[in-house]
Amino acid sequence: MRILSGIKPTGQLTLGNYLGALKHFKDYQNQGEVFIFIADLHALTLPIDSKELNENSRDIACYYLASGLDPKKTTIFLQSSVSEHAELSAILQNYIYMGELKRMTQFKDKSKKLNDSSIGLGLFAYPALMNADIVLYNTDIVPVGEDQMQHVELTHDLVKRFNHRYGDILVNPKAQVQKVGARIMSLSDPSVKMSKSDPKGDIFLKDDEKTIRKKIMSAKTDSGSEIKFDKENKPGISNLLTIYAATKDITIPEAEAKFQGYRYGDFKKAVADAVVEELIPFQQRYKQILEDKSYLKVLKDGRDKAKKVAHQTLLKVQKAVGILTLDE
Ligand code: TYM
Repeated sequence: MRILSGIKPTGQLTLGNYLGALKHFKDYQNQGEVFIFIADLHALTLPIDSKELNENSRDIACYYLASGLDPKKTTIFLQSSVSEHAELSAILQNYIYMGELKRMTQFKDKSKKLNDSSIGLGLFAYPALMNADIVLYNTDIVPVGEDQMQHVELTHDLVKRFNHRYGDILVNPKAQVQKVGARIMSLSDPSVKMSKSDPKGDIFLKDDEKTIRKKIMSAKTDSGSEIKFDKENKPGISNLLTIYAATKDITIPEAEAKFQGYRYGDFKKAVADAVVEELIPFQQRYKQILEDKSYLKVLKDGRDKAKKVAHQTLLKVQKAVGILTLDE
């Protein structure tokens, strides 16, 4: 079984990225062949400072290693270092329709904040590149947060369409989301997703202990005093219960049972303790990896391994569509 996922180096990673995706990548290492990459070409789809892109990309490499990914078991690489991603995307974009791209929630959300004359083509064509990322590695499982499911479903449709026309060429992937933590909400407005591109109410993976505690203690809560999971009437408390459960790897009912009879203030303190206990050691591992620069060799080796697999798929697709391929 092949498993693949990626994170885009835009902005600082949040607790949402961590609980919905990053924390779980390592769990797949004993289930199959894992490919985890830094989606740096995707980061260019919204305006980004070049220094920031560079530093964020390096940070994500370090975060991958700090999260427990073992480069002996997982291929860790930069999307841009395997040119097959861009090459396959250029082919696949012809099998995805404008109507489908226009329906993508992410495109609608992100383009809403820009005016037409400043929306880059890359933002609209985003899913074509993401489709290529996935199918290049004959991926079966794509672990992602809820907000990326629509993109993976589009890949599914594309594969069906492509294979219908050319035969059994591409493998059909399936998104896998966490039971708890697939959609962490903003602490200041629990009706919207915690997002690195809209950082109000975020906990960042780089926040220090004091900041983490302060943000959680001032998180928006709801009327009433019961600690109960009820997304509609108690979105703030439900989000904090989710954060606690996802951090501790327990279910929502288990978290509810633990906090029965707690006051909001004591509950929040326990959530803050849990997040601090998880993130502070993670930050220490990150710092060490950043300093010893071990991530550089990991990315080079990852590139070489990824390229071998990706190139085979690209060749197969090129041949299928009738491109005159010159070497094997
Ligand atoms: P990105 O960088 O926006 O997010 C990385 C991962 O974090 C998840 N996530 C969340 N999970 C729970 N709660 C949240 N509030 C939250 N916010 C983000 C995302 O769902 C994602 O799993 N397009 C992708 C990167 C990508 C990719 C791919 C992923 C490019 N190619 C191929 C998988 C396969 C993205 O922008 O994720």
